[in-house]
Amino acid sequence: MNPGETDRLIHRRATNKGRQSIATDMGFEFTNLLELEDMARTKIPRATFDYIAGGAEDEVTLRRNREAFGRWALRPRVLRDVSKRDTKTVLLGERVSMPVCVAPTSFHALVHPEGEVATARGAAAAETILIASTISTKPLEEVAAAADAPRWFQLYVYRDRAVTEELVARAVKAGYKALCLTADTPVLGRRERDERNAFTLPPGFGIANLKGAGLDEMPAVEHGSAFAKYVTDLLDPSLTWDDVEWLKSISPLPLVIKGIMTPGPRGSSSRTTGAANSIRPWGASTRCPTSSRRCADGSKSTSTAESDAARMCSRPSPSGRKRSSSAARSSGVSPWEARRECERSWISCTRNSIRPWRSPAVRT
Ligand SMILES: Cc1cc2nc3c(=O)[nH]c(=O)nc-3n(C[C@H](O)[C@H](O)[C@H](O)COP(=O)(O)O)c2cc1C
Repeated sequence: MNPGETDRLIHRRATNKGRQSIATDMGFEFTNLLELEDMARTKIPRATFDYIAGGAEDEVTLRRNREAFGRWALRPRVLRDVSKRDTKTVLLGERVSMPVCVAPTSFHALVHPEGEVATARGAAAAETILIASTISTKPLEEVAAAADAPRWFQLYVYRDRAVTEELVARAVKAGYKALCLTADTPVLGRRERDERNAFTLPPGFGIANLKGAGLDEMPAVEHGSAFAKYVTDLLDPSLTWDDVEWLKSISPLPLVIKGIMTPGPRGSSSRTTGAANSIRPWGASTRCPTSSRRCADGSKSTSTAESDAARMCSRPSPSGRKRSSSAARSSGVSPWEARRECERSWISCTRNSIRPWRSPAVRT
């Protein structure tokens, strides 16, 4: 057994403790998502499974994402009456049961006959927001009609801007509450499993939202992934912040940019600050939420770690960056560690009400 598998086993045992299993209407039960993944491996075609579970190239990022997630920890405050617990929060004006949304993912009908319509019902039952993918196997209107719940529309920008405008107009008309622009896929990573499996959509499946535009089918390829060719041929790799302005000009909806990974004046912050209807994803915040040393519930954050972290990662403007590094150096902590500590202390100081930090640039 390799180390990855051991981790999975340990994780599965740990997470199974005290949990009730979830029964599905498809006749199987699972206790956590790893179990569900194992079941899926045995039930769905290899190419489909690999498309869902696989990553690009050597899948280094895929593994690192998981590991990074595993390193997060909540630092509990003890002896604080937690008989009533509440993770509700508000995202762009919508009340949700937890600060977790359903990320946009494509082609759900490959694994469930009702596809994204069933996902929409599931998200509504969990009282959270579904971010419906552009490249869905069900039309966005059907997804919208599936449940009386708020949802956002994830947008891939097509080279043909008329096609993109049409998608935006339909999302507005169908009552989506925000647009979520995917900015981290200007070029699709080389997904080796898909190349090997010659991944394509089986007959009878298509990108439903693009049917009207005649772009719902995967192209014919002699070898390799047809999906990769679809993305390369049709999605626009030239997006810049000017296109964000353009999107704002054609839609009344709040605009969320998905996939910002580099904080800093040349990354997210300089162009979004003050933007009329854009928000920064909280994962990519460039300013420490505890820099004011105030928790989301208004109480003061008092721990030394919190105040150190706040000092080390507050306001990274060009000069702030310098200040961060020197503060970090003097305490022997790297700026990245400081930043992580900062984010951890933010979580811990939110007590029972976890609220995502929202930048002053948020306008909805
Ligand atoms: C099978 C699959 C399909 C995806 N489809 C989309 C998509 O259509 N649009 C999008 O913006 N992101 C898409 N993503 C990316 C996810 O929204 C998410 O950003 C990514 O999986 C990283 O999060 P994770 O580490 O929790 O998986 C997809 C991811 C997977 C695994």
